[in-house]
Amino acid sequence: MLAHSTPRRVVARVAQLEPAKRILFLPLTRPRTPMYPMGEPRSHGSADILLARGFAPHRVALEDYVAYQWEAVGDLLGTRSIQRRDQLALRWLYDAVRQVGAPTSALDIGCAYGNHLFMLNAMLGKPQSVELVGVDLFDKAIQVANTFAEQIPGYSNCRFHLVDITQGLPFPDSSFEAINACDVIEHLIDPRQSLLEMRRVARPGATIVLSTPLRDSVFKTLARKANRLTKGRLYRSYYAGKDTSLGPTGMPIMETPAGHDHVSEMNLTELQGLCRDLGLRIEQMEPMSILSGSKWFGRHDFVLAGALALEAVHDRLRRPNWSHSVMLRLRSVR
Ligand SMILES: C[S@@+](CC[C@H](N)C(=O)[O-])C[C@H]1O[C@@H](n2cnc3c(N)ncnc32)[C@H](O)[C@@H]1O
Repeated sequence: MLAHSTPRRVVARVAQLEPAKRILFLPLTRPRTPMYPMGEPRSHGSADILLARGFAPHRVALEDYVAYQWEAVGDLLGTRSIQRRDQLALRWLYDAVRQVGAPTSALDIGCAYGNHLFMLNAMLGKPQSVELVGVDLFDKAIQVANTFAEQIPGYSNCRFHLVDITQGLPFPDSSFEAINACDVIEHLIDPRQSLLEMRRVARPGATIVLSTPLRDSVFKTLARKANRLTKGRLYRSYYAGKDTSLGPTGMPIMETPAGHDHVSEMNLTELQGLCRDLGLRIEQMEPMSILSGSKWFGRHDFVLAGALALEAVHDRLRRPNWSHSVMLRLRSVR
């Protein structure tokens, strides 16, 4: 993108500099062409994107849309939290697929633009013998994901379907060795029914990767109290920094183009009980960060510094009841 506004020689020289020195050249990076040719432009500036990309000049491409779907520049805590989640989910999925060997099939529930599957495919070395299938009820995301899979070499083993999981999954029993369900079940009115459906399409012994926010963590409870004390100002600022609209009660609007918002958050005991009831053995549980992030923190340096210090303490103590969300590696033991 830098190449659109700056002579190529300068671009090449800058790309070779240390990251810290590249920052000096940020004013050169204003783009002349829109970043996202296919949809809503993102609110962040080109400079941030270039830093994230390692400052390498690149053409505006389909990859941009897929790669940046959850990136929220200016939200350090959010980016840190989502990167950790992705790293763990991908490691668990990678191990599950590698363990079985080819041919294998993996399913991503609520795959959005497909980037977990695309990253997994890249990590695996794009083996065409591994079938990667994503489902979501967000039609535009499914369209983008399928276009990516068709157009970008090495991804034709990925396919995406428009599916509302609450209506059942259009796959035979025991179809998949690995299933990913990252930040989805809290959007479903009846998570039990959808987990049962996931178990049905999972082969016996398959790995299911689940990540979901926890209701009533210590800090969520504190935030609720602080919100009441500040007459709703805390949530208004926090959610504005997440680009989420609030309803009349001051809580996020529950209906979105991509289904419900968080209508079914559970606490850890409820979640563990549900998995046990359904014959999904919890093989690993990882408490994730305390805060899911918001650009609001980035506007208040001291609050951000405090939050990062707290996260550092939590990284050591790893208390599930402090965590905003949890990740579970489950095994279907039917
Ligand atoms: C928070 S996003 C998570 C996306 C992706 N799994 C990730 O972790 O980056 C939740 C996704 O679940 C999808 N979703 C919500 N309800 C669904 C349903 N009933 N059936 C299928 N997908 C659903 C949404 O469209 C959205 O893409």
